[in-house]
Amino acid sequence: MIEFKNVEKVYPGGTTAVKDASLTIDDGEFVCFIGTSGSGKTTALRMINRMHDPSGGEILIDGEATTSKDPVELRRGIGYVIQQTGLMPHMTVYDNIVTVPRLLKWDEKKNRDIAERLMNRVELPVEYLDRYPSELSGGQQQRIGVIRALAANPKIVLMDEPFGALDPITRDALQELVKELQVEFGSTFVFVTHDMDEALNLADRIAVWHEGDLIQYDTPDEILRNPSNEHVRGFLGEERLMQAQTDFITVKEIMLTTPLTATLGMSLAKAITIMRDNHVDSLFVIDDDHHLKGLLTLNDLASRTANSSLSVADVMHTRIRPVFEDALVQDTTTQILKGRIPNMPVVDREGRLTGLVTRSALVNLVYNSIWGDEEEIDKLTDEPVFENAETTAAHPIDATTEGADK
Ligand SMILES: Nc1ncnc2c1ncn2[C@@H]1O[C@H](COP(=O)(O)OP(=O)(O)O)[C@@H](O)[C@H]1O
Ligand SMILES: [Mg+2]
Repeated sequence: MIEFKNVEKVYPGGTTAVKDASLTIDDGEFVCFIGTSGSGKTTALRMINRMHDPSGGEILIDGEATTSKDPVELRRGIGYVIQQTGLMPHMTVYDNIVTVPRLLKWDEKKNRDIAERLMNRVELPVEYLDRYPSELSGGQQQRIGVIRALAANPKIVLMDEPFGALDPITRDALQELVKELQVEFGSTFVFVTHDMDEALNLADRIAVWHEGDLIQYDTPDEILRNPSNEHVRGFLGEERLMQAQTDFITVKEIMLTTPLTATLGMSLAKAITIMRDNHVDSLFVIDDDHHLKGLLTLNDLASRTANSSLSVADVMHTRIRPVFEDALVQDTTTQILKGRIPNMPVVDREGRLTGLVTRSALVNLVYNSIWGDEEEIDKLTDEPVFENAETTAAHPIDATTEGADK
């Protein structure tokens, strides 16, 4: 665990680079530091491995102040990757990779094994171990930079805009790789970037810096949902904020809260009366505690009303899959749209019926968020809503599709 306690950094020239920052990074966490140029990210990062020391406050690693440790010793236990790879040009790739293991006096055979395994892991030919860094492309060099940082299996890895100079495709591939390696190695990663997409993609938590202040420290979801001020909003950009709004809508926010219901013991005649009075062709069936028990449709009733000894419980459908009210709409869209019933029951975590989602409410929302992607919409809406053919004509999604085209 890494802990910043009221950390401050004033450089000898008088610049305050970091002001009174406190944050905790858990073991195995992937944390991104993000901020504009000069906001203090690099300074904050370098104080972790004592390339700089705080002028106020302290940084603790596993409860011990970094300043109580020998800086050289400390740095051997912390991997470090920078944008210009930091590879030694006069050393072979192999010698670069095993720098720290050698300092730790590990057995040379073991070092060779580690280097070869890591080369395989990042899909570089083992023959490259004998080349010099300049013989490799930028992306390949940066792969070497990453595995060099991991070679001694450090508990902590620091990365300072490692992919800033790479083209977008190489960069995406390396992001994937780094994320995978972090999980495999179980190390704690602190990764500096000025690219919000990169941070959102990689981080468990994001620390946003602005002019030396830590202005927000939260999960990507929380940052998108509740940016703490206009600087964070600016970083996210309006487009991403709008997208996030639809991404985080819960079923509860779009459901109707007054579903019509029948009770288990209700007579079929009574159920029909409710349907007729309300002009609906189905009712959700609940028990005395409002738990959802089934679905009753007009079809099921039509042929059976003569039999007065039957109750709702005898003829209802019980194989219905409700959605949870706290589920995200985007996670349930397919289930709802591909479901066979026009109104999807919504339950709380105790299984009590709390509402219903109509397909049309959902289609409206889907249109708003994936507007323009007709293929996506077709995929979601191509199945018949009802089981029987004659009602398909009244397909509520078709109605909405036409309406939206205007
Ligand atoms: N070695 C240094 N000496 C004096 N000022 C520095 C030094 N390094 C950084 N600064 C200043 O500290 C502030 C924060 O810089 P830095 O931590 O590099 O920000 P970032 O990495 O977010 O771009 C800037 O104003 C920068 O000019
Ligand atoms: Mg920097």
